[in-house]
Amino acid sequence: MTQLSVNINKIATLRNARGGNTPNVCQVALDCERFGAEGITVHPRPDERHIRFSDVWDLKSIIKTEFNIEGYPSPEFIKLVKAVKPHQVTLVPDPPEAITSSAGWDTVRNLDFLQEIVAELQNIGIRVSIFVDTNLKNIEFAAKTGTDRVELYTEPYATDYSKDRKMAVEPFVEAAKLAKKLGLGLNAGHDLSLENLHYLHTMIPWLEEVSIGHALVADALYLGLEDTIKRYKKQLL
Ligand code: PXP
Repeated sequence: MTQLSVNINKIATLRNARGGNTPNVCQVALDCERFGAEGITVHPRPDERHIRFSDVWDLKSIIKTEFNIEGYPSPEFIKLVKAVKPHQVTLVPDPPEAITSSAGWDTVRNLDFLQEIVAELQNIGIRVSIFVDTNLKNIEFAAKTGTDRVELYTEPYATDYSKDRKMAVEPFVEAAKLAKKLGLGLNAGHDLSLENLHYLHTMIPWLEEVSIGHALVADALYLGLEDTIKRYKKQLL
């Protein structure tokens, strides 16, 4: 079964636009769970422009499903996740000023760095996932870091989906097969939507988790959060 983890960064962006506590990030997380999400994802950035470090603590105390924290492994980030101890940490390579994650790790070049961080987090019982593109070398070296899972960066799939979905998914299927062969668990995320999710899942049914934020929150404006989550879950059946 592929789990749906809802990335709630955009809810925090909306809240921060007015300085108050509307919408309430914790309430939205609880409602996502109530409507069927199997996990909650956040990406606390150093400038706290959406999720704040204090949100991470608040969420930790109330979330009943899987808590996934993604981010660049800076000393501050590592200190935070080691203290909060979420179920999963997803390591992304983007610099702090990036608008959003826009590439996977070069795991060949960063092998030693990642190996050290993966071990540090696993030693205290945190599952680690490394964000990667479909370059098979990067998958191969991700396995050498000792990571539990990789998360495939699906933006190129989403971009090419409407042009030629079979062509778009091919490198992802190859990467997913290699990850499986190497014993890595498999997540996917970025620009997944009600349009493109079902096909990805059909082609890679052994996906363990998808993490979805932007499109899901945009859909919720029209459909409401409950209906939206139910529709995303239906794509994963
Ligand atoms: N996975 C990672 C590593 C991300 O950085 C993001 C964006 O925060 C997502 C998944 C979710 O992407 P989207 O908001 O496009 O659904």
